[in-house]
Order: sequence, then structure tokens, then C-alpha cells
Amino acid sequence: MNRVKAEKFRERIGDIYVGAALTLMIDVGFRTGLWDAAAEGPATSAELAERAGLEERYVREWLGAVTSGGIMEFDDVTGTYLLPVEHAVSLAGNGAPNRAVNAGLLTYLGKHVDAVATAFREGGGVPYSAFRPEFTALMDQRFRREYDEMLIDGYIRVVPGLEERLTDGIKACDVGCGTGHNLNLMAAAYPASTFTGYDIAADAIEAARSEAAEMALQNVRFEVKDCTKISEDGGFDLVTTFDAVHDQADPQAALDAIGRCLAPGGVYLMIDIDASSELRNNLDNPLAPYLYTVSTMHCMTVSLAEGGAGLGTVWGRELALEMLAKTGLVDVQILQSSNPTNCIYVCRKGREPSL
Ligand SMILES: C[S@@+](CC[C@H](N)C(=O)[O-])C[C@H]1O[C@@H](n2cnc3c(N)ncnc32)[C@H](O)[C@@H]1O
Repeated sequence: MNRVKAEKFRERIGDIYVGAALTLMIDVGFRTGLWDAAAEGPATSAELAERAGLEERYVREWLGAVTSGGIMEFDDVTGTYLLPVEHAVSLAGNGAPNRAVNAGLLTYLGKHVDAVATAFREGGGVPYSAFRPEFTALMDQRFRREYDEMLIDGYIRVVPGLEERLTDGIKACDVGCGTGHNLNLMAAAYPASTFTGYDIAADAIEAARSEAAEMALQNVRFEVKDCTKISEDGGFDLVTTFDAVHDQADPQAALDAIGRCLAPGGVYLMIDIDASSELRNNLDNPLAPYLYTVSTMHCMTVSLAEGGAGLGTVWGRELALEMLAKTGLVDVQILQSSNPTNCIYVCRKGREPSL
């Protein structure tokens, strides 16, 4: 045994656990509003507690963790804590750069360790139902900010001709739409087009409908539907999926159904995780451990729970292209989205471009 290597690894394990511990604290800060309060400027623990309307003793202990963890800074002379603006960008505010929301997904997945470990031993998986309703809310929180900032510029406008067609008026469908915020934004931006959102989750569809009503949208509808059973053959000019293929029980059937419901010349935009299907090509991707973990704890297990394919989050470009080819969709191009975690597969039905 190489003792130096062993010692280095022991240190690494320590770092990993410190990161995990701070993840809990980031989540607590997000849930309690402490990050937004801290972003307002330097404060003692009592001042920060008052600002956020919280118990000082808890805030002081939390400050101990996030200050020793290098997230906040402490001024020994004034006894004040500071969240530097450079750190606040990633932890406070309602914008897409706020990463604090991701901590909630990890702490929530932690609740399912027992059930996932059981599936390691006995097979099967942890079904979607075990993750609802919290998962619906977490996905919404996680993606809503991103769609607010990037949907039009980062996804729609990167596909040549798409915005013009949406402006003129087409029929569009989002599959696995979750709480439908992206579709509601599109419906508001392109009033001449009509939009349909399908998802198997009744709680997500209810939230999508109520947001559409709040926004007084007349050109969008949402329905609880298993997308493998979409019946509108040739009924849509545009179909989109936003991170909604890799966790399907039967992803090939879902892609086949999407291919069928596209009109000739229609376009399918599959926004999905940008990775390789081969582990060896992902080793330099700093996010790979996160992606494989989320897959093990959610995306793969929900599919396996249904006796499904269990593609997992990191199913990757090679397998995605193979499966898309089987649907008969042609001219598949892969574009980079403004979110580096995702890429956009642009697929056309038939050679005659309608978009
Ligand atoms: C990772 S979430 C993404 C949600 C949404 N597209 C977003 O961007 O927030 C995947 C979604 O696919 C839905 N889903 C999974 N299998 C489905 C199926 N067979 N038919 C329709 N929706 C499905 C899930 O209920 C979930 O809402």
C-alpha cells in the first residue's frame, strides 16, 4: 500500500464530508432567508437574526459553519459577519445564478438513501410517487429561475427559424412539462401559437394550470397524460422535452410517440443533460459525480421502479443519438445551450423543413 496515497485520500474524504455538511447549511440558509438577509451587508449574529426574523442562537451556530467553511467572512474587531458580493451572487436573490436552491435537492434526496440502498439489494427502485409532492416543488424552484432568464435567448433563439414560426403561429407541445412554467412563458411570448403540456404528475399539472390562469393565458392547456400514449398523430409542429426523457420508464416508447405526434417537417427539441454515454469520457467533467449521484438517487431509480429502462441522468450523447435514430427523426443536430449542463438535440421529421 502507498501510505502517501492513503493519507491523501483520507484528507479527500474529510473534504467530501465538509462539503456535504456545508450543503446542509446552504439549504438551511436558503429555506430561512439567511442568504438574502446576509447579502444586505455586514451584521453581527444578533443583527442578522433580527434581519431574518430568526433565533440568534441558531444563526450564530450556522454562522460558525459557513464562516469556517469559507462562505462568509468574520471581522474580529467589529464582531460582524460578511457575505462577500462575489459569493452572494451564487447564494442570494431570485436569479438563475443562485445555486443555493440546488442544496435542497441534495438534502431531499438524502431522505431516500434507505429506500435506494434496499433497491441495490433487492432490485426494483423507488417510484416517482415516493418523491412527490416535494420533488415537484424542488424541480419548479430549480428550473423556474433558469427559464425566466434563459428560455427565449438560451433555447428558442438558438434554433434558426424557430422564433419566427412561433411568432407566426404553430402548435407546440411540451412533454414531461412538470409545473409548466416554461410553457406558460412561451404562451405569453408567442400569443399566435397554441401550447399543450403533458405530464404524469397530477400535482404538477394542477400547479401549471393555476399559473396559466393567474397569467390569464388563453393559448395553453395542460393535461395529466403518460406521454407514451399521446394520440395526436401529426398534430404538433414543435415538441419539446426539458430534462424529461432520461427518467422515463420507457424512454424509447416516449421518443417514438413524440416522433408520431410531430407533423411532417416538424421539429423536436430535446433538452437534456450534456454528457457522454461512456464513463471514460466523463471523468474530466467536474459535475459528473453530482450527475451520477442524482441519477442513482432519483432519475435511474424512478425508471427501474416501473420495471423500466433505467437510462439514468448520464445516458449521454451516443445513446441519445442511437435512440433518436430509431424514431425516424432525421438531421439530428446537437447545439450548446446557455446552461452548460444541458445540450439541445434539434431533430426534424422528414427532410422538408417546416421550421
Ligand atoms: C426532471 S422532471 C422535468 C420537469 C420539467 N420539464 C422541468 O423542466 O421542470 C421530469 C418530468 O417528466 C415527467 N414524466 C416522467 N415520465 C413521464 C411520462 N411517461 N409521461 C409524461 N411525463 C412523464 C415527470 O413527472 C417529471 O415532471
